[in-house]
Amino acid sequence: MQYGYFDDKNREYVITRPDTPLPWINYLGCQAYFGIVSNTAGGYSFYRDARLRRITRYRYNNVPFDLGGRYIYVRDDETGDYWLPSWQPTHSDLEQYTCRHGMGYSTIGSKRRGISASTRYFVPLDENLEIWQFTLSNERQTPAALSVFSAIEFCLWDAQDDSTNFQRNFSIGEVEIEDGVIYHKTEYRERRDHFAWFACSAELAGFDTQRDVFLGPTRGWDRPAAVERGESFDSVAHGWAPIGSHHVRLVLQPGETRQILFVLGYHENPKDEKFDPPESQIVNKKTVKPVIAGYLIPANVDEAFQKLRTYWDGLLDICQVTTPDIHTDRMVNVWNAYQCMATFNMSRSASFYESGIGRGLGFRDSNQDLLGFVHMVPERARERILDLAATQLPSGGAYHQYQPLTKKGNNDVGGNFNDDPHWLIVGVGAYLKETGDWSILDEPVQYDNQPGSEQPLYDHLQRSFRYTLDRLGPHSLPLIGRADWNDCLNLNCFSDTPGQSFQTTTNKEGKVAESVFIGGLFVLAAKELAAIARHSGHADEAAGYLAEGAHMEETVRRHGWDGEWFLRAYDDFGNKVGSKECAEGKIFIEPQGFCILAGIGLEDGLARRALESVRKYLATPHGIVLQQPAYSRYYLHLGEISSYPPGYKENAGIFCHNNPWVIIAEAMAGNGDGAHDYYSRINPSAREAISDVHRCEPYVYAQMIAGRDAPTHGEAKNSWLTGTAAWNYYAIVQFILGIRPAYDGLQIAPAIPERWTGFRAVRRFRGVTYQITVRRAGTGNAVKLMVDGQAVDGDVVRAPADGRTEVVVGVTLE
Ligand code: BGC
Ligand code: NOJ
Repeated sequence: MQYGYFDDKNREYVITRPDTPLPWINYLGCQAYFGIVSNTAGGYSFYRDARLRRITRYRYNNVPFDLGGRYIYVRDDETGDYWLPSWQPTHSDLEQYTCRHGMGYSTIGSKRRGISASTRYFVPLDENLEIWQFTLSNERQTPAALSVFSAIEFCLWDAQDDSTNFQRNFSIGEVEIEDGVIYHKTEYRERRDHFAWFACSAELAGFDTQRDVFLGPTRGWDRPAAVERGESFDSVAHGWAPIGSHHVRLVLQPGETRQILFVLGYHENPKDEKFDPPESQIVNKKTVKPVIAGYLIPANVDEAFQKLRTYWDGLLDICQVTTPDIHTDRMVNVWNAYQCMATFNMSRSASFYESGIGRGLGFRDSNQDLLGFVHMVPERARERILDLAATQLPSGGAYHQYQPLTKKGNNDVGGNFNDDPHWLIVGVGAYLKETGDWSILDEPVQYDNQPGSEQPLYDHLQRSFRYTLDRLGPHSLPLIGRADWNDCLNLNCFSDTPGQSFQTTTNKEGKVAESVFIGGLFVLAAKELAAIARHSGHADEAAGYLAEGAHMEETVRRHGWDGEWFLRAYDDFGNKVGSKECAEGKIFIEPQGFCILAGIGLEDGLARRALESVRKYLATPHGIVLQQPAYSRYYLHLGEISSYPPGYKENAGIFCHNNPWVIIAEAMAGNGDGAHDYYSRINPSAREAISDVHRCEPYVYAQMIAGRDAPTHGEAKNSWLTGTAAWNYYAIVQFILGIRPAYDGLQIAPAIPERWTGFRAVRRFRGVTYQITVRRAGTGNAVKLMVDGQAVDGDVVRAPADGRTEVVVGVTLE
């Protein structure tokens, strides 16, 4: 069953009924001002940091889920009938409801009793504001007297404090209303130099800024007193809950359409120019007023929207493919790339499942997110790499997260996740291959954000690498620390206290438990670092990195191979985890995918055997589960992984992030059919037809799909913010389609299904547009390359020597 359809041409997903199984959301903004908007206009906004600069309030865990957001009420002033064109929370009967989620905008509208209304929400490029372009049409035969009420609820900035510290919060709310613009200025009197504003292009009949006056006592958003009576109260908030609501009255003739603009923004003033007059407590509006005035002019808004569209077309056009599979095309060409922008911006901080207060940006996550993002806006990737590296500790280790606003490491989850440092090498490698910008390695970067501690970025990579060599366990495999990629494999935690955090509790010294996964990651990092060294004036060091990598590879073979698959780990007792010797959790996905991805076992058959075991024990029609058999009880020595009921999350759920590792491994082993088959099992577009089972959005990946041990097998959870986005993009584009930025040029090494006759692609890479046509001539993956009509040896297309910017590449697969 479907709840909508893809409009591929317009790069939109069109939802055709409001009662989707879960809120199906979109992101507004892709630079500094962000919003989350659901298909019924639920959601919230923030500036840079979802915790520290929350602009509008949102109640997580609400009932229904999707309550509170960017509301516009329409009222028929003749009958008193009122509704929201976006359906929630009045749930009125609507005709022709549609929500079009597009690239950085959403348009939600419907018709009721001859009145059509629709709102396009978007954040203009380079601005800290969001626009609601509201259009109202009278399709009746008679004039319609209507009222329109906007409504948002302000958050008192720190979202954590806002949802807990009520004894204080109920007394601090402050607003100003000037020329119909509502200014939210809570805490501006003291240390804040920022405020929010909410403006309307139409002449106002009234306004409200105190929530409980607007709603009326004992009422909710579904029955605001002001809307019901058809008149605002002109309330001025002092304490309690400041909101912004405008009331506009209008009469529409038959066939008439009117547009009203609502604009919500964030603004900062210089610290010494906060007030006007200076000795007053009145917000200085000198610099904000021109911004407000500008965006209340429809032509400017239209222009800003066109700019946004052009911007996104430009980003997506960097890589476009035409394959025999529509699901591949629309994910690669539109939605997967788009999701990679969201994960780059948000990491795992703010979605409908990540509350924006629990986590900052993850060190591991953000580095991996670069794999799917770096080609779109390399300058921002560069900045992110330097920010991340600056939070690295002198030991080479890392804070697990940092706050985007302060760019400082956040100790909430601490460090000692022993895989963390290597992801910096992976991220920097991806950046270098995409851009060829070697200068980044010489950038001076602090350690732990300490002035004076600057060292070239290259030094950071060396310390990342060293970090593991300084932390080897009894089998010479890397010690796992607090956890590795699998946050829930907590082998040093041993927690028996309810509620204690698995992520911060350590009861063991950590000198025994080892991770085969980090072994694989280290081998990959060694190769990457050696390549970086060879290309950047450190050639003499390359051999050393390779030797360490080869040594680790040997160790993995000796102590990390279980006979039919790679072992997962050794626990604190030195016992195996992920082995045939275990009663539960005999085989895990991570080392199978990652060791092969690092090249281990491709020559000697281990890879093939491991992949056969994955197919036999872990693959399901809905994707590959994390391990089997699922843990049926809590194991003190394994930690959080065994805390989940079987089939969910890390305990044998289909953790989509690591499926692409196996997809890449299959492709590297030359099995394009297997790779694309696994790819399709979790591809959200390919699952659209089973939306009633999948339940999450069919246009983006979710973190997890319930595994075969779960009663809800096939049900996705936690959509949007997941490493799945970058890794699947990377797997399909770089390994199945095989279009792979390399240090020396653009490598083309596809491993496509046998039945595909070929595909076409356009890839802009380092200033050159490559028109690529791949044609299958045989059943294998051997590449014959023609560049501008000339046969070329190997599979790497080098930049044209003569400065041409258009290159035609023909690939024959034999
Ligand atoms: C989740 C993990 C997550 C970890 C850290 C766990 O509960 O299952 O996926 O990485 O928390 O927040
Ligand atoms: C989600 C986290 O964000 C990611 O860093 C981690 O690797 C996975 N969970 C697996 O535990």
